[in-house]
Amino acid sequence: MKLLVCGGAGFIGSNFVRHRVRDHGDEVVVLDKLTYAGRPENLKDLGVRLDAGAIEDADAVRTAMAGVDAVVNFAAETHVDRSISGPHAFVETNVTGTLTLLEAARELGVGRYVQISTDEVYGSIDEGSFTEASPLEPSSPYSASKAGGDLLVSSYTHTYDLETVICRGSNNYGPYQYPEKLIPLMVLNALHGDPLPVYGDGRNVRNWLFVEDFARGISHALAHGAPGEVYNVGGPDEAQNIDVVHAILRHTGADESLITWVTDRPGHDRRYSLGSEKIRALGWEAQVRFDEGLERTVSWYRENAWWWEPIRSGEYREYYERHYGRALG
Ligand code: NAD
Ligand code: TYD
Repeated sequence: MKLLVCGGAGFIGSNFVRHRVRDHGDEVVVLDKLTYAGRPENLKDLGVRLDAGAIEDADAVRTAMAGVDAVVNFAAETHVDRSISGPHAFVETNVTGTLTLLEAARELGVGRYVQISTDEVYGSIDEGSFTEASPLEPSSPYSASKAGGDLLVSSYTHTYDLETVICRGSNNYGPYQYPEKLIPLMVLNALHGDPLPVYGDGRNVRNWLFVEDFARGISHALAHGAPGEVYNVGGPDEAQNIDVVHAILRHTGADESLITWVTDRPGHDRRYSLGSEKIRALGWEAQVRFDEGLERTVSWYRENAWWWEPIRSGEYREYYERHYGRALG
């Protein structure tokens, strides 16, 4: 297969590209704006073509999309906290960018379009799990912009018969995740003896999915998903943030005194939980439980300082100081 992977230089996108090249032998073109989160080094040794360009740039999109069998779109602004302090880029990429891709896919007659989305479009749920039929009730500028993108994708199947599939993943973790997100931030801070900033009461619950399991789930949806359908891809385990932080302390050997309680995120969703029966019916199953995946993740960060050292000394340092009001050690 010849695939266009948008946002393929980011965390999940690059793990998906690795999976497609190694397990499926695909030819892959990556289109990526290379924002702070897009790292060309995530793709090194994979032998893929990397076009540096934005998904809202119609010319760059047409060039990258020419001759591909399918498009998988990961490209997005993805951090809830950044969406609260600066929402415009989220609408530009997650809504306008998605629309630009859909227009090109329609014009060029692309066979399949897979949109990567998130459980956050459903909002927060205190008990039970969201199904694909749950209403969209996004609560952050990030999740609202992702929901907007999803609605446009569905409209292109309804209006133009474009073969689209939407995959909604729960919280991912694993190698190559930018350390603004909970798990890599806590792992790197623990390894450096820096404070571990826990928001609110630390009892918010996330449904953790190892990134390689998500990559395989997306491949199932790409190959077997019915046009116009949505597939939830949820992880096998849920955990409160504070328990995740304690597990990271155990794996890194860092001291509990590093835990620092900080002001809660505005509008912080209490709990996410995804029911994944529909994608299971296509033959997918999560293979990595949280304990194993976290151990593998901590080992990866320990062994790959070449990857995170340039990040910790660059834009991230300024972001961290601005957001947390304190410098990294
Ligand atoms: P990430 O922030 O690590 O990577 C995003 C990538 O998109 C980067 O390579 C960035 O350079 C690129 N990008 C940003 N704006 C762009 C633009 N305008 N044009 C082209 N490229 C652009 O994000 P991630 O965690 O890998 O998430 C990938 C996708 O998966 C997103 O759509 C996100 O909403 C979704 N998702 C993420 C999670 C999670 O836990 N991280 C869970 C479910 C769904
Ligand atoms: P995050 O990784 O930002 O993912 P999302 O908010 O999209 O689920 O955050 C995961 C959880 O961890 C969320 O409840 C917020 C919390 N959190 C902290 O307590 N401290 C932090 O420094 C960060 C980044 C997140």
